Amino acid sequence: MKQSTMCLVGLGLVCAQATAASPARLPALAETATLEKLEIPAIRSDKRSGLSYVELKPEHASALVNYMHSKNRCGGFQVLPEPILSQEAFVAELKPLNDAEATRAVMATRILRFSAEPIAVRPELRAAFDQVSGDNQKRWVDYLSSFETRYHNNADPNIHVRAVQAKLEELAKTSKLPISIELISHTRTSQKSIRARILGSKRPTEFVVLGGHLDSTVGWFSRGRAPGADDNASGSANIIESFRILSQMAQPERTIEFYWYAAEEVGLVGSAEIARLAKEARKDVIGALQLDMTLFPGNGPFTLASMEDFTSPWLRQILVEINTTYALGAQILADKCGYGCSDHASWYQQGYPTLMPFEASFDKMNREIHTVRDVVSSASNFEHSALFTKIALAFTWELANSDVREPQP
Ligand code: BES
Ligand code: ZN
Repeated sequence: MKQSTMCLVGLGLVCAQATAASPARLPALAETATLEKLEIPAIRSDKRSGLSYVELKPEHASALVNYMHSKNRCGGFQVLPEPILSQEAFVAELKPLNDAEATRAVMATRILRFSAEPIAVRPELRAAFDQVSGDNQKRWVDYLSSFETRYHNNADPNIHVRAVQAKLEELAKTSKLPISIELISHTRTSQKSIRARILGSKRPTEFVVLGGHLDSTVGWFSRGRAPGADDNASGSANIIESFRILSQMAQPERTIEFYWYAAEEVGLVGSAEIARLAKEARKDVIGALQLDMTLFPGNGPFTLASMEDFTSPWLRQILVEINTTYALGAQILADKCGYGCSDHASWYQQGYPTLMPFEASFDKMNREIHTVRDVVSSASNFEHSALFTKIALAFTWELANSDVREPQP
């Protein structure tokens, strides 16, 4: 059910046909002004978007279609795959809140979920996408998974951290942008996180965050080899590639921060501290994208899951729009971890908007993670994995070059 909803949203506005096969009432979103003109009663209206939720009687659907066609417009309303909720259930759901603010919040979230106004193409992203390749992705995953272990409690838990820092500094050398790269120390682990930053030109105190954890594990007190190719050399490689490509583009309006988090595998330790300090400093983080495991196409190549817990409807919607606008060819399933499974949860818990596209649905994910068998193998798909770099690029470029932020009810 979730899946078909996502697909329909991805199609954008569809032209309604009031046929005999249509249900008695057609759930739809429509422009409030048009509904008022045609005297069609709305169930709920949202001022911000100018949209209303309606359940159209056949005669109202015909009137709306005829009106749109008389204006030479196909659209102006969107038929939904299913009713949002019956009016009674909708009201009942909100009753315990008994709060006009809460009503608006729920309404805005629902409208956001279903409004499919696509984001506009930013032509410079096409050239950026041309820089993305499965081969590059493989090179970084091979490199990162060749360290004996990236476990946080290793004798020297920062061997790979310093090595990646050096690689990033090397990449930054050919950039004309104001870039800084630093290691972040933590109180609960001696492993350090890495942060690279491209300073924003217009709104430098607004931040777009990309991240993935750089550590690996083979279980509690992880000893010996822990290659962590999928978990999470793959997501770390996506973030390195995003940094490489974005550092060669124009200066973004907002500041972009890239994180390779420490000690995620022992309880989101690095990111929890980073996000907590960000909140304490009232840091204006517009959105945080987490890439953790992008290499194993458990539902088939280019099918990914958008995790719906500890993430924000606003950013999940942007993911769908990115896929449509740039014809990335992803099939986006909706799924849940069921717990704070990765570093996005650290940001989310501090109140920041987050997004987590994942390699496959939870039940089809790579079963070899946290073992010595999490290596590059015939099951690895670097083209699938590279898709996540394109998503990271589009996510970042869209958010870092506009003044959009999470809608407030
Ligand atoms: N890569 C996993 C997270 C993951 C697992 C995401 C399954 C989606 C599906 C991550 O590195 C991890 O292992 N997380 C821990 C939780 C953490 C709080 C220690 C886990 O899932 O056990
Ligand atoms: Zn893990």
